[in-house]
Amino acid sequence: MMSHQSKFSKVPAHLAIIMDGNGRWAKARMLQRIIGHQRGVETVKRVVEECSNLGIRYLTLFAFSAENWFRPKTEVKALMLLLKHYIMAETNRMINDNIRFRVIGNRPELPPDVLHHLDEASRVTAGNSGMTLTLALSYGARQEIAAAARRIAVEIAGGRLSPDGVDEATFAGFLDTSDMPDPDFLIRTSGEMRISNFLLWQLAYTELYFTEKNWPDFDRDELHKALVHYQSRERRFGKTSDQVKGRG
Ligand code: IPE
Ligand code: IPE
Ligand code: MG
Repeated sequence: MMSHQSKFSKVPAHLAIIMDGNGRWAKARMLQRIIGHQRGVETVKRVVEECSNLGIRYLTLFAFSAENWFRPKTEVKALMLLLKHYIMAETNRMINDNIRFRVIGNRPELPPDVLHHLDEASRVTAGNSGMTLTLALSYGARQEIAAAARRIAVEIAGGRLSPDGVDEATFAGFLDTSDMPDPDFLIRTSGEMRISNFLLWQLAYTELYFTEKNWPDFDRDELHKALVHYQSRERRFGKTSDQVKGRG
């Protein structure tokens, strides 16, 4: 087998994924949507393990959006139960694999028992030095940005910050992701080509990748295919290609 070192000259430091298509995967097989979500959890386990093996420093998974609360109650309930079982079953593996676990999103909306297990997993893995695995739960980027603006307003009203002091770096410091680099690469599965209120601020210069595969079918080969694409992207950040190549 080819070693990872030879297969990938560079991997993203921060990979973000919009895991989409569980429902359609199930529907195509005349199964209930929740079966698709169950299969999706298996994909999560695979992808987490492989990203950690590849030396990716940050993996951020969009698992449940602020807007997903408006799905049928039975589906929301089933998703919360799946989430709880995933955390309960995987916390030990995170400890063994040196993975640091954390959550971003609107915490108060999550059921207390789910929150308890999420907090416990975050606590016991806080000192780990390997990959940081972030689950975006009850997460919406506009809500996150509005919350940051509110907190900044409180600081200014309290005289601890001046309006002139609010620049990009200050603002980023008030977001849920304040201690993470911006994503280098975003993958969305299931053929949808939209951001769906995910990391709007942080994705400003992220390379985007869309695949037709539904999330339950997103296997190791698909991940590798995406990462090969990433390697070929030239990130210019507004400059010219020659400048980026050091010939400018
Ligand atoms: C992604 O799959 C999982 C969540 C959003 C929770 P979907 O449930 O959105 O699957 P589709 O888009 O209906 O196929
Ligand atoms: C985005 O998927 C949210 C997650 C993957 C958790 P959706 O399936 O909810 O997105 P839309 O509503 O189709 O844009
Ligand atoms: Mg969807």
